[in-house]
Amino acid sequence: MTDSKSGKTLTLKKKAATPAATESGERRKRAGGRARQVAQQGRERDKLRAAKTPVTPSQPDTTSPVPPASRNQESRQDHHTHSNDSVQAEAARPHVAVRRARRPAQTEIFPVFAPCPQGLEEALAAEMQALGFEDAEPARAGCRFHADWSGILRANLYSRLATRILVQVAHAPVQHEDDILELAQQTPWERWFGAEQTLRVDTSAIRSPMQSLQYCNLRAKDGICDRLREREGERPSIDTVRPDARVHLFLSEDSATLYLDTSGESLFKRGWRLDKGEAPLRENLAAGLLALSGWDPAQALLDPFCGSGTILIEAAWIALGVPAGIWRPFGFERLRNHDARHWRDIKDEARSHIATRLDSPIVGYDLNPQAIEAARANLERAWLTPDSIRFEVGDARHAAPPASSGWLVTNPPYGERLPGDDVELWSDWAQNLKHHYSGWQVSVISSDLELPRQMRLKPRRRYPLHNGALDCRLFIFEMVQASYRKEKQ
Ligand SMILES: C[S@@+](CC[C@H](N)C(=O)[O-])C[C@H]1O[C@@H](n2cnc3c(N)ncnc32)[C@H](O)[C@@H]1O
Repeated sequence: MTDSKSGKTLTLKKKAATPAATESGERRKRAGGRARQVAQQGRERDKLRAAKTPVTPSQPDTTSPVPPASRNQESRQDHHTHSNDSVQAEAARPHVAVRRARRPAQTEIFPVFAPCPQGLEEALAAEMQALGFEDAEPARAGCRFHADWSGILRANLYSRLATRILVQVAHAPVQHEDDILELAQQTPWERWFGAEQTLRVDTSAIRSPMQSLQYCNLRAKDGICDRLREREGERPSIDTVRPDARVHLFLSEDSATLYLDTSGESLFKRGWRLDKGEAPLRENLAAGLLALSGWDPAQALLDPFCGSGTILIEAAWIALGVPAGIWRPFGFERLRNHDARHWRDIKDEARSHIATRLDSPIVGYDLNPQAIEAARANLERAWLTPDSIRFEVGDARHAAPPASSGWLVTNPPYGERLPGDDVELWSDWAQNLKHHYSGWQVSVISSDLELPRQMRLKPRRRYPLHNGALDCRLFIFEMVQASYRKEKQ
C-alpha cells in the first residue's frame, strides 16, 4: 500500500464488487423485465382508480421519525421499535407479467429526513447546507431538507454525520391501527419496489397512543403488501437481515409518516471497519467530534487514546476529501429502476476530487498493542497507506505532541472501562497537557461529567452528545500557558 516515492497516502483502487453486491445485481437484472411489466399494469390500474379514489396527499412532517431513546442505537431499537422479524419468508411465488415502473423524474423534489446521533443536529444541518441542500434545518435527532433523486444519492454518498437518508413518501393523521393500513395501501410503493424485492419494515414512535408498535408494524407491512399484490399479482417477501427495500414507519401523538430508506445499512458503516478494538466510536460520531472540535484539516491532529483508530481514519478521509460512502453499497442500488450509470457518474465525479496526499501529521497512540494492530488493519482497509497515519503503542500520560500546535480529539476510556489502578490517569494526563501542549485545542468526549474537575481544567465549551446509550459531553479545552500558571498559583 505504501507509495513512498510519490508521497501518496491513498490508494485509489476501485474496490472489487462484493459477492453479495454482484448477486443482487444479477438478481435485479433477471427480475427487471418482469418488474417493468407489473409496474406498468399498476400504473394503468392507478389511472382508473384515480378517477374513483382520492389519494391521501403527502405532507411535510414536523416531527422526527425516531424516538429519543432509540435514535442511532440500533442495538436498543427493540425497546421502542418493531421490525417484522417474526414474519416468515413466503414460499416460492408464481411467475407474473410485469411492466415498467415510473422512474423518479430528476426534477421531482422529495422531503427528506436524515437521522444522526443526538447532539449533532446543528452540525448535520450545516453539512447538508454545505452539500447544497440550502433548506436543511436541524430537527429532533436529525435534520430535514428537500432534494431531487440525484441529491438523495449525493447525500448518501457524501454525508459523514447522517445515519440514514430517509425519503418521506406518506404522512397522515392516524387514530387507529387501521388508519396505518390504509395509509400504506394508498402509498405508491410500486415506484420503488415490488415482488421481486424483499422487504423490511421498522416502526418507531414518540408519544404515540397506539397500544402495540408490533401491531402497527404489521399493519404497515400488510398495507404495503396488499397494494403490491393487488397491483402486481404478488407481494414482496420479508427479509429482516438483508432486505432489498426498507420502510420506516414513524408514529407521533396523532400522525403516521412512512419513509423509504435509501441508505440500506446505516451510513456510519463506511465499509473499512473489521477490527473493532475496545468500545469503538461510530464513524459518524467520530466525524461529528471532529466537526465540533473545529479541527482545521491543514493542521496536526492527535488522538492519544486512539483504540481502533476511528477518529483519525475519519479525519484522514476528511482531509483527503474521500466521500464517506465511496466504497460501500447503498439501499437505493437495490430499488426498482436504479439508474446505475447515473450513480456511476456521481461517484466518478466524487473520485476525481480526492486528494492523494495529507499535508499535516495525523498521529494516534494507545497503550494496548492489539488496539494499534486493529487501527493499522483498519487503515489498510480504508485504502490509506501505512505511513498516512502514525499509529504507535504509547501512553497518553507521556506522549509528546507531534507538532508545536494542533488539535487533540479523543475518546478516552471512561466509566466501567477505566482500569481500576488508573485513578490518577486524568491528573497525570492533564499534567502532560499543561506542560507540553500549549497552543493545542483539546476535545475530549466523556460520559464522566466530572472530567474537567479531575483534570483541573476549565472547558471553553461543552457539547451534550450521545455515544450509543451513554449521555456524554464533548469538552473543549484551550491549552494556553495561562491554564498551567493558574493551576500552579
Ligand atoms: C474508549 S477506547 C477508544 C476507542 C476508539 N475511539 C475507537 O473508536 O476505537 C479507549 C482506549 O484508550 C486506551 N488507553 C487506556 N489508557 C491509556 C493510556 N494511559 N494511554 C493510551 N491509551 C490508553 C485503551 O486501550 C482503549 O483502546
